[in-house]
Amino acid sequence: MPCVIAVPKELAQGERRVAIVPEVAQKLARSGHEIRIEHDAGTGAYYPDDQYVAAGAKSVSSRTDLLKGAQIVLCVQPPTIADVDQLAEGCIVIGFMNPGRNRDVIVRMRDRKITAFALELVPRITRAQSMDALSSQATAGGYTATIMGAAHSPKFLPMLTTAAGTIRPATVLVLGAGVAGLMAIATAKRLGAVVEAYDVRRAAGEQVRSLGAKFLELEINAEGQGGYARELTPEEKVKEQEMVSAAVARADIVITTASIPGRKAPVLITKETAGRMKPGAVIVDLAAESGGNCELTQPGKTVHEHNITILGPLNLPAQIAFHSSQMYSKNLHAFLGLLLDKEGSLVHDYHDEILAASLLLHAGEVRHGPTRDLLGGVLT
Ligand SMILES: NC(=O)c1ccc[n+]([C@@H]2O[C@H](COP(=O)([O-])OP(=O)(O)OC[C@H]3O[C@@H](n4cnc5c(N)ncnc54)[C@H](O)[C@@H]3O)[C@@H](O)[C@H]2O)c1
Repeated sequence: MPCVIAVPKELAQGERRVAIVPEVAQKLARSGHEIRIEHDAGTGAYYPDDQYVAAGAKSVSSRTDLLKGAQIVLCVQPPTIADVDQLAEGCIVIGFMNPGRNRDVIVRMRDRKITAFALELVPRITRAQSMDALSSQATAGGYTATIMGAAHSPKFLPMLTTAAGTIRPATVLVLGAGVAGLMAIATAKRLGAVVEAYDVRRAAGEQVRSLGAKFLELEINAEGQGGYARELTPEEKVKEQEMVSAAVARADIVITTASIPGRKAPVLITKETAGRMKPGAVIVDLAAESGGNCELTQPGKTVHEHNITILGPLNLPAQIAFHSSQMYSKNLHAFLGLLLDKEGSLVHDYHDEILAASLLLHAGEVRHGPTRDLLGGVLT
């Protein structure tokens, strides 16, 4: 039995993405599902209502009508508490859940026996690559960071030989070479900059070099569990600081993406280091949301200090909403492939490794250990 799938308009401030784009809505509608899309849900990402209607979806003006009887709700950010109160018990909600920032709504979903899958918990195994929304959105963020850096820099990025003289290429330094960092490097290379990069994981060196950038080596390998970085020891931090500080001083644009899951982002650029940067230099701090990699970063703000510009953008993927929504939507579609059988009916067995790992809430219980610990202190 095909399902009723609802796609609400995202209400979070600055959120322009939409969970499902018309192309994916069409695929789901052709499989027999009833696709309801809230009026204007795709407008911020430049997918107008009429494209959804042409794709076989129903455009719904009232949020209440949208959610009434929905079996699956697809979203980018978690729903609001008011939304949750309108969902039927057992309804499945899929999206980024970010429990640390959305405790109240997570608790409400638990209490109303909503089944919630958190896309950020999809394991990074080969079979789940097509569902890896963290990676698709980090790709969008890394690209946008370089473009923003270039737009705020008073310099050309490529080398130019002109009648008015020769221009030396700009130097771009990328700190943290995960998914976003690698995309930032690739974009800066395409723009013609000289690119240097650093990551505590030595394995990142090969990927950095394969993009034509220089990898800054330190005698530290801080690859921790699951391929993520571990926290550095105090001695390691001092060595890192010295090397990073010299690289920062020679860069025209620095893009920082360093983060450690579940922890505050490491400070890689102190005030003193920033003070040694060239006039006109730009820092784009992608870790602004989790505390920032630069001490001068102010989340969501542009700071001008020491003759340099520090950008602390929040939700960069939303700035490139057309393509980030397209990628996210394809991730969701692939994920739905695990939840729906050949006839389009919902499966009730969540033993599949990917479903089991991303299942946050089910039947009134928090199924993800760290979230359970986090909510331990929430009074309900
Ligand atoms: N399907 C897959 O196999 C798959 C998909 C995506 C990512 N991954 C892997 O997952 C890992 C994490 O990727 P991510 O982009 O989500 O990372 P992330 O967003 O958690 O962190 C970004 C980068 O910051 C680095 N970092 C942390 N502390 C640092 C410090 N003090 N100095 C410099 N760099 C620092 C990390 O090593 C990481 O590369 C990587 O190993 C990546 O290759 C695997």
